[in-house]
Amino acid sequence: MVKQAAKLFAIMIGVAMAFTSLAQGEVKMAIWGKTADGVAVPIYTLTSGQIEVRVTAYGAHLVSIKTPDRTGNAADIILGFGSLQGYLTQPNSYLGAIVGRYGNRIALGKFTLDGKTYQIPVNNGPNALHGGPMGFDQYVWKSQEVPDGVEFTHVSPDGDMGFPGTLTAKVRYTLKGDTLRIDYSATTDKATVLNITNHSYFNLHGDGKGNILDQRIEINADRYTPVDAGLIPTGELASVAGTPMDFRKPEAIGARIDDSNEQLKRAGGYDFNFVLNGKPGTMRVAAIATDPASGRKLTVETTEPGVQFYSGNFLDGSLTGWNGVKYEKHGGFCLETQHFPDSPNHPDFPSTELKPGETMHSTTTFTFGVTK
Ligand code: GLA
Repeated sequence: MVKQAAKLFAIMIGVAMAFTSLAQGEVKMAIWGKTADGVAVPIYTLTSGQIEVRVTAYGAHLVSIKTPDRTGNAADIILGFGSLQGYLTQPNSYLGAIVGRYGNRIALGKFTLDGKTYQIPVNNGPNALHGGPMGFDQYVWKSQEVPDGVEFTHVSPDGDMGFPGTLTAKVRYTLKGDTLRIDYSATTDKATVLNITNHSYFNLHGDGKGNILDQRIEINADRYTPVDAGLIPTGELASVAGTPMDFRKPEAIGARIDDSNEQLKRAGGYDFNFVLNGKPGTMRVAAIATDPASGRKLTVETTEPGVQFYSGNFLDGSLTGWNGVKYEKHGGFCLETQHFPDSPNHPDFPSTELKPGETMHSTTTFTFGVTK
């Protein structure tokens, strides 16, 4: 009798634990492959309900995000290579990458901090892009499993790509319910500048399934930062009113992309930093994207002051995804939550400086849903 009761109790505990783990989601680790130097690279699969997210320690890339459409059919809604080899052989693609130390552009790769001038090797015409030619996207990060996810750590030595200070950067991905949360933090041993973000290309139809021009975007921004011919902010915070940059009401990405607008022509589509409404440092909606065809909906919230809305203008068929499809122009869109591009050269922009003893914290969430 006592034995039976104990057995029943054990079964009940087992069932309760199984349900708890289902509700809390699941984290699984596997070795995905090795770098050319023989370093083993983990990949983590996070599952919660019908959502499955894969992230790898290589460049802390988001590899895939599977979400259901309105009829329950799952598709991967970010562009990616599907194998470690794809990332190793197609560097600087930034598909799902963590970009750093400085996401987006620094004019001429040059800035002055505390009276000293620093030079980042340029890799985008005359400018430095995404931290220079050897950015955070090309390192194997240290990984540590955490509840509902994984935390990646990368230590960038003093002088790395010309940036001052030893920078310890942490990126934590957690999946709970329908929300993927990214927490960034960093410390330094010398004053420096940084702007770390995730560079996922979304396509709510599914990875490789046509372009994103019919997908709709709403951006919570009254202003944006216009750019010069090299896509460097002029310093102005311009009103979006009466321009194709006005996404305060949802609009198809393709609706005005070919308008005769000087800014759109310069960028070959959308590639602008939007000045988010509300207080930086507090969580607020940055953007909402929907796909009328599949019903998929993506809500992006952040503590960052800006978001770079990029319509994949430079995709030109030279990258081949996991399913053999070549990524053509407008094959995905990015919503890179961030500080403004070239902030180190614009003292009136929110500061990207980090001093010893301080910790940079930043949070962005992607919430997945469907519309009727
Ligand atoms: C960012 C930039 C774009 C482009 C991509 C990478 O989104 O704003 O101009 O460089 O990264 O191709």
